[in-house]
Amino acid sequence: AIRDRQAAWVLARHDARLRAEIARGLTTVLRRYAWTGADADCRLWFRMQAEARRLNYEVDRNGNQWAWLGDPAAGDAVVTGSHLDSVPDGGAFDGPLGVVSAFAALDELRSRGVQFKRPFAITNFGDEEGARFGLACVGSRLTAGRLTKEQAYELRDADGVSLPQAMEAAGYDPEAIGPDPERLARIGAFVELHVEQGRALDLSGDAVGIASAIWPHGRWRYDFAGEANHAGTTRLVDRRDPMLTYAETVLSARREAELAGAVATFGKIAVEPNGVNAIPSLVRGWLDARAADQDALDTVIAGIETASRDHAARHGIDLTVVRESFTPVVEFAHALRDEIASVLGEKTPVLGTGAGHDAGILSESIPTAMLFVRNPTGVSHSPAEFAAEDDCVAGVLALADVLEGLACR
Ligand code: GLV
Ligand code: MN
Ligand code: MN
Repeated sequence: AIRDRQAAWVLARHDARLRAEIARGLTTVLRRYAWTGADADCRLWFRMQAEARRLNYEVDRNGNQWAWLGDPAAGDAVVTGSHLDSVPDGGAFDGPLGVVSAFAALDELRSRGVQFKRPFAITNFGDEEGARFGLACVGSRLTAGRLTKEQAYELRDADGVSLPQAMEAAGYDPEAIGPDPERLARIGAFVELHVEQGRALDLSGDAVGIASAIWPHGRWRYDFAGEANHAGTTRLVDRRDPMLTYAETVLSARREAELAGAVATFGKIAVEPNGVNAIPSLVRGWLDARAADQDALDTVIAGIETASRDHAARHGIDLTVVRESFTPVVEFAHALRDEIASVLGEKTPVLGTGAGHDAGILSESIPTAMLFVRNPTGVSHSPAEFAAEDDCVAGVLALADVLEGLACR
């Protein structure tokens, strides 16, 4: 067992080839978008890990990958995993840490010689970040019936490529996508290990924590339509410049978030025609807003829209606001959380998070739980995201302990 040998990162230590693959496929490519070449590399890596461990590999109707030990038809399966895709210029740990740790935890359990009493699977959910098509957790949403095939077919990337076109180009059948209740009915528990995306564990001095809840969160598209015109010859008073309204809205979002105790971010914009010497005709900004409870989120969203409509009226701008996605608050299953706390020790910190996860999407259908691993930088969705080797090992051991408790007793 790696605990005995005080081994470092178990996968990397055991196999130099694997280490190179992890580095190449998972940690050096910081733009791992759904159904691209980088995604295919990650998927190939997952499949190789499954086959190297003699697990039964399958891809479900929504393109999520599964590696099974035992017969899934027996039901009450214990499943662990996360995602391998990333945000633009993301880090090496958000997602991959959960998948790599799942394989490492299985290695650990096998070296302990434990017997699995229930079917067990490791999974990689597709398109968790929504970096390409704008909607997060597409793989788990489809599986849980929280995104219909018709809605999924409407999704388009920045180049106008639709989700079914992208899936087909990557060699998957987009006709097959849709809810998968039979698959979910066979799962008794899903546990996702994830790098922490804040500094709570660093501050408390703990390597591993347990998730309590996920904040309600959503994405809203703000379209500010004005009038394209010459940047040199158009008098300031004659302009209908949507960039001004956009800028004022960003400031209002910050102010409203402070007032409501929420967070609100414009992290992505598109400008038309996007010329240095042209007043824009259109500025499109995407607002990501999250809060600890629904009331605070409603307050901040309403406050930002009201302020933005005021700014728009003053500049002669037409404003359209569209809610593109929304995920209500998730309170992880208390029984499973308590069971995990009893395995890891009652002193293990229990943390809420503002980040979305596949475990949150699935929590409506099946009991889910999450483990967090300390991130000393507290930074995530950036290459500065980090977890020390010892903490990664602590995460693997904690996950192995939890899985042993769930699947082997
Ligand atoms: C996913 O990481 C999200 O919280 O947006
Ligand atoms: Mn993320
Ligand atoms: Mn993630």
